[in-house]
Amino acid sequence: AYRAEDDYDYLFKVVLIGDSGVGKSNLLSRFTRNEFSLESKSTIGVEFATRSIRVDDKVVKAQIWDTAGQESPGFTLILNVHNDHKAFSTSMKKQSRNCKTNVLMAELTFVISSLGRYRAITSAYYRGAVGALVVYDVTRHVTFENVERWLKELRDHTDANIVIMLVGNKADLRHLRAVSVEDAKGFAERESTFFMETSALESMNVESAFTEVLTQIY
Ligand code: GTP
Ligand code: MG
Repeated sequence: AYRAEDDYDYLFKVVLIGDSGVGKSNLLSRFTRNEFSLESKSTIGVEFATRSIRVDDKVVKAQIWDTAGQESPGFTLILNVHNDHKAFSTSMKKQSRNCKTNVLMAELTFVISSLGRYRAITSAYYRGAVGALVVYDVTRHVTFENVERWLKELRDHTDANIVIMLVGNKADLRHLRAVSVEDAKGFAERESTFFMETSALESMNVESAFTEVLTQIY
């Protein structure tokens, strides 16, 4: 049967979180555009991209959100949001059908007008998310230690049913490994999350990590 290109049965919002530099943006670009960049810059503000996959006989459209892993000082973030406000607003309108664009835009406007209110953005980022990839870098142990904090922030801002995948990225850097698979698996079991190691560079498990989350949501 004919289906329009943008026709879908389900729209799921998935968020990417984790420390700065762990590879969130490259996981996103690998999954949505099959692109990887060795010299990617730290993400400014909030970005998102979409990709549709088939689960059973349904089309599931993933709207994946990405932001900087650093607690940006509110001021920088607000300026960036301000600069990108129009482009962001346009792309949101183009891309969204079921999501609450107006609420989000109202909130962003609110953030612009009241300096220092970083938390308002945080809650807009998490709002409506039904899946999350919590990413660490297998070569930097501290990024694994910080997963606990990311999980707390995630759980504080989302529904208890959210599907969470712990992702150990940069698995291609075998000689630099600082977090063992066993430790990560054990942690994921205790936290009741899924777990996978990936490499955005080598395209290893990137497809599987996103697809597993989307399938579990579905
Ligand atoms: P923020 O936006 O600052 O939060 O960082 P991020 O998590 O989005 O990281 P980003 O995707 O920008 O990647 C940071 C650096 O790690 C870049 O130089 C990437 O090329 C590199 N990188 C990302 N994924 C991989 C990977 O799987 N393997 C290797 N070797 N490098 C990677
Ligand atoms: Mg980024």
